[in-house]
Amino acid sequence: MERLITFDRESHRLDVNFGDYYWFDAAFTPKELKMIEAMTSKLQWEQATTIAGDSTEHRKSKIKWCPQSSEWEWVYNKLHDLIYEANRVMWKMDLTLMPEPIQYTEYYEGGGHYDWHMDCGIGSQNRRKISVTVQLSHPDDYEGGELEFNTGNVHQGPRVQGAAVVFPSFFMHRVTPVTKGTRKSFVLWVGGEPYR
Ligand SMILES: [Fe+2]
Repeated sequence: MERLITFDRESHRLDVNFGDYYWFDAAFTPKELKMIEAMTSKLQWEQATTIAGDSTEHRKSKIKWCPQSSEWEWVYNKLHDLIYEANRVMWKMDLTLMPEPIQYTEYYEGGGHYDWHMDCGIGSQNRRKISVTVQLSHPDDYEGGELEFNTGNVHQGPRVQGAAVVFPSFFMHRVTPVTKGTRKSFVLWVGGEPYR
């Protein structure tokens, strides 16, 4: 059968892998985590909402937004470098924007969770291409609260304190209910013009 549509085969990139995330198990040192704890303790709480609304059925957590100020510049720079390296190795997307501040989240004992979702979507979320999340808590500080990805199979992300996980924002992911203690994390999104 005659092929009516062809694509430029020469442009195929064999070194791009959209099937996996990329992680750093010691992105932040214990000393840096202490500094972050002190900095986040000064910020105001907000009510976490998602595009599904502010129902706690889909997401139950408390968040703070970390300002893009000089005090926070080293954290933004570090996350930028981690995302840059992961994207260079894995996905090679065009990244031009870091349009939103870092989101600090606490998931509490008694069902704190975030159900399956993608980070990109409609409106201001359509520019998100890559997400990074940082494990701020020690694994012994909480039970449950697993970060999981579903790319056909379900994978558990690293639980190591100070680890950073970088993933395409279109990956389905969730945080399972926290059954004991508190899980603290950062999330930041980077992106640019919609995929083409
Ligand atoms: Fe997410």
